Amino acid sequence: MTEQFKGKVALVTGGAAGIGRETAEAFARNGAQVVVSDVNAQAGEETASAIRNTGGKAIFIACDVSQGEQVEQLITGTLEAYGRLDFAFNNAGVEFEQGKLADGDEDTFDRIMDINVKGVWHCMRHEIKAMLAQGGGVIVNTASVAGLGAAPKMSIYSASKHAVIGFTKSAAVEYGKKGIRVNAVCPGVIDTEMFRRAAELDPKKAAYAAAIHPVGRIGQSSEIAAAVLYLCSEGAAFTTGVALPVDGGATSI
Ligand SMILES: NC(=O)c1ccc[n+]([C@@H]2O[C@H](COP(=O)([O-])OP(=O)(O)OC[C@H]3O[C@@H](n4cnc5c(N)ncnc54)[C@H](O)[C@@H]3O)[C@@H](O)[C@H]2O)c1
Repeated sequence: MTEQFKGKVALVTGGAAGIGRETAEAFARNGAQVVVSDVNAQAGEETASAIRNTGGKAIFIACDVSQGEQVEQLITGTLEAYGRLDFAFNNAGVEFEQGKLADGDEDTFDRIMDINVKGVWHCMRHEIKAMLAQGGGVIVNTASVAGLGAAPKMSIYSASKHAVIGFTKSAAVEYGKKGIRVNAVCPGVIDTEMFRRAAELDPKKAAYAAAIHPVGRIGQSSEIAAAVLYLCSEGAAFTTGVALPVDGGATSI
């Protein structure tokens, strides 16, 4: 436990599992009051309760990020509970894709874009209003290495993560003088349920994905959490508009 973020309030979407859960726990270990949010209420409540059981401060607020009204209520609920919003980690996202571009269908396109793109947009709009009212804050969005280059058989997902980086950079420029920093993390392949689901559906693709990292392994959620906490810290005060690969060197090849 450290007190680095004592008195600060951190919101994590997709906080019930994987990268989101690990990051919510890391914020709490470093003194922040945490709002865990997810569409999966049972797992989200469980995450918040696990944080409280280890001495941290956390509440759970259910929210499907693709639904604007629910996101508005999430931010209102955060302000009602803790009075402010210092750090927002917009991390909820889905993959759901197993074919080349010409094999894609419109339902899959809409679902991925609704959650990965419109969801981040909804969150940023409401978070920025809250941060403007209090004089600043930090936003970190989860993009992906798939937002920096090609992702074979995941073209819709790749396009959605490119869009997340577009929002990140534009908002960083728009709100830089207002004390709001906005960055993205771009994970390589990380050992979460998302990766395990993909591996089960297409073991060849999973083997390819695992082999893209020069460090010779896939990543852990804790390694993304560490990058998110750094981007929220005072040490990153001059860092904004960045799409930071945390990818074992994958994008350097
Ligand atoms: N795992 C990887 O290899 C990897 C790599 C690059 C980027 N990412 C990105 O990291 C983020 C987290 O992924 P993960 O691997 O931890 O996935 P995960 O599937 O383990 O967890 C995602 C969480 O998001 C929640 N979620 C899904 N749809 C939601 C919605 N509409 N509203 C609110 N919550 C919702 C899920 O319930 C789940 O708890 C995603 O944005 C993903 O695209 C993952």
